[in-house]
Amino acid sequence: MTEVIRVGGGKGYDVAVGRGLLDDAGQFLGAVGGARKALVVSDSNVWPLYGKKAEKLFRETGMKTLSFVFEAGEKSKTLETFGRILDAAAAEKLTRSDVIVALGGGVTGDLAGFASAVYLRGVRCVQIPTTLLAAVDSSVGGKTGVDLPAGKNLAGAFHRPSLVLCDTSTLDTLPDAQYRSGCAEVIKYGMIGSEDFLRKLIARPVSEAPEEVISFCVRMKKDVVEKDEFDVGCRMLLNFGHTFGHAAELLSGYSISHGEGVAAGMATVTRAAVKFGICDGASLELLLSALEKYNLPRVIPFRVPEMRSAVLSDKKNIGGELKLIVPEKAGKCAIRGIDPASVGKWISAGRTSGWNRQK
Ligand SMILES: NC(=O)c1ccc[n+]([C@@H]2O[C@H](COP(=O)([O-])OP(=O)(O)OC[C@H]3O[C@@H](n4cnc5c(N)ncnc54)[C@H](O)[C@@H]3O)[C@@H](O)[C@H]2O)c1
Ligand SMILES: [Zn+2]
Repeated sequence: MTEVIRVGGGKGYDVAVGRGLLDDAGQFLGAVGGARKALVVSDSNVWPLYGKKAEKLFRETGMKTLSFVFEAGEKSKTLETFGRILDAAAAEKLTRSDVIVALGGGVTGDLAGFASAVYLRGVRCVQIPTTLLAAVDSSVGGKTGVDLPAGKNLAGAFHRPSLVLCDTSTLDTLPDAQYRSGCAEVIKYGMIGSEDFLRKLIARPVSEAPEEVISFCVRMKKDVVEKDEFDVGCRMLLNFGHTFGHAAELLSGYSISHGEGVAAGMATVTRAAVKFGICDGASLELLLSALEKYNLPRVIPFRVPEMRSAVLSDKKNIGGELKLIVPEKAGKCAIRGIDPASVGKWISAGRTSGWNRQK
């Protein structure tokens, strides 16, 4: 069964979630009606797996399909790849009524989304997420962009997709590490919005009911982005676990994955919140059980001073107060402005000895 979630009301877009959706998604392509060409952007891992299927879908509605395939990985999320996508669109003479399709994970979604925001000052974009992270997070909400040598996601634009097609059968080929990384973001939704959901994640693996889990997360993300599309208020809640998580990723030279960083970051900030009397111990235990269930780390393997400087060197955290997302209980987090001078105190309160990262 396909679930359809409408984001942004009247002028918004549909997110369709279902197993086998790509085989029968023609009914949704009215969202890009009038397009004569579809430029499908994908990476070197995803294209061989799902390229044909995506092409068939757009061809069946009478569009000509073109493709742009780049080398898989975050290292490709650059202005250079972005420029090459724009060049491909121009070489193929895409017009304002045509469409750019992102077939892949968050890297593909961010690159193709950014190209669609900029090419001819904006063309329509269809997101087809193929990682759990892209399904629950990056494909919805309209944030697009690339990394600069100075840091991650430093250039980009807000550009809503016209349609998101999430075919959960594509997750069957996802490597386990990528799957677990997505599970960290799924657990994040439980911590910021629903204790009940968190308990369900512990009772039943995500892989047993991915459609239900993804739809739940998309509905939560929809609620947040509808209230705060441009990330100046409650959308920041989605950064739960990310402040310390990013710092750990950075210090590890990215051998710690994003999901692992977020997992250990969530555990760290929650432990500190319990020590400071902001959050209850039972909520911490619930979070730790969920992380353990998905083999995700609960401890950051770096010392307080190095973590402190990594957090403070993050461009997002420079100047004034630092916005930290702090749990009050499982299912409820708040945005707290904290004095940068007290970052070390939070990290040290959130630490326990040892590093239980599991591969
Ligand atoms: N725009 C947003 O709101 C937002 C939110 C969160 C993250 N992001 C961005 O998303 C990126 C991370 O996304 P990601 O984790 O999906 O990374 P990714 O796109 O690099 O995908 C991870 C790996 O899995 C492979 N892969 C993807 N789908 C597959 C499938 N179905 N079967 C087999 N292999 C598959 C890819 O080729 C890649 O090697 C980061 O750049 C991050 O900044 C953006
Ligand atoms: Zn994240």
